Amino acid sequence: IKTIGILTSGGDAPGMNAAIRAVTRSAIFSGFKVKGIYRGYKGLIDDEIVDFHTQNVSNIIQQGGTILKTARSKEFPTPEGHQQAYDNMKKEGIDALVVIGGDGSLTGARQFASEYDVPIIGLPGTIDNDLYGTDHTIGYDTALNTIMWCVDRIRDTATSHERLFFIEVMGRNAGFLALNGAIASGAEAAIIPEISTEVDQLAELIQNGFRKTKNSSIVLVAESPITGGAMGLAERVRKEYPQYDVRVTILGHLQRGGSPTAQDRILASRMGSAAIDALLEGQRNVMIGDANDEIVYVPFSKAIKNDKPIDRDLLNILRRLSI
Ligand code: F6P
Repeated sequence: IKTIGILTSGGDAPGMNAAIRAVTRSAIFSGFKVKGIYRGYKGLIDDEIVDFHTQNVSNIIQQGGTILKTARSKEFPTPEGHQQAYDNMKKEGIDALVVIGGDGSLTGARQFASEYDVPIIGLPGTIDNDLYGTDHTIGYDTALNTIMWCVDRIRDTATSHERLFFIEVMGRNAGFLALNGAIASGAEAAIIPEISTEVDQLAELIQNGFRKTKNSSIVLVAESPITGGAMGLAERVRKEYPQYDVRVTILGHLQRGGSPTAQDRILASRMGSAAIDALLEGQRNVMIGDANDEIVYVPFSKAIKNDKPIDRDLLNILRRLSI
């Protein structure tokens, strides 16, 4: 391997830039050449590829988003897309790829690597924290902190007006942001797709709170067809319990922006560096994971489409602390 191509794909996540910087500088440090591929797999097909030097990644560790831009490509998974991507890699002299992204991006990497002889190393870059084999993904901690910051502010107005707020957070099909966001912000409950919560159970919990000392309630709801989202849940509660003054806030793409936290910058730096170590060790088609604070190599087949379990102890803690 002489030249490594690097791309970001799928939804952006804070810390992606820190990862791009770490991969680029570690690669150059180890004697590789680096090429930056713009707009994810789409850029690989469209040949949007430029030489990357250490200065290309200067002054980006603190920036949210991704300087390489990102996209969700419909063309890449087709046979023609794969062929075009491979031809461009050959043309540009790229021998290996580092792909930073979430489940969809690593699924794309896995398919590509199964058809063409291309070593690929994946870095888990998603706010959702839904990749199996890693305790944390790059961007998750920053998103969690953003959620906490927002809920703290909503709490002020919820308390003043004695209202019940349903706050919807991202996570695609996973409840990590909702559950840990609820604990961090002292919410009454988290409605997550992994656990079914009946409206009655929820109302009982809230009612108990109101009856005792609380004059407001905050419930974090994970976006998902399973939970029904904050709007759906609020509708049901309004119908069955008209005594509550219910409001809904959907945090949306706010959660994807912002300067990465120290934790995300450090994780991205460790993982980016580990991606180059992995290539030097002859690894291919693995995702870099962080398990119990140690770097691990997780085969793509394990990392993706494999439901990462929710820590049930956290649910109990949330229940216990919301009395
Ligand atoms: O995977 C990251 C994520 O932010 C999910 O939490 C969310 O469901 C999705 O991306 C939103 O995608 P888009 O930015 O394309 O609307």
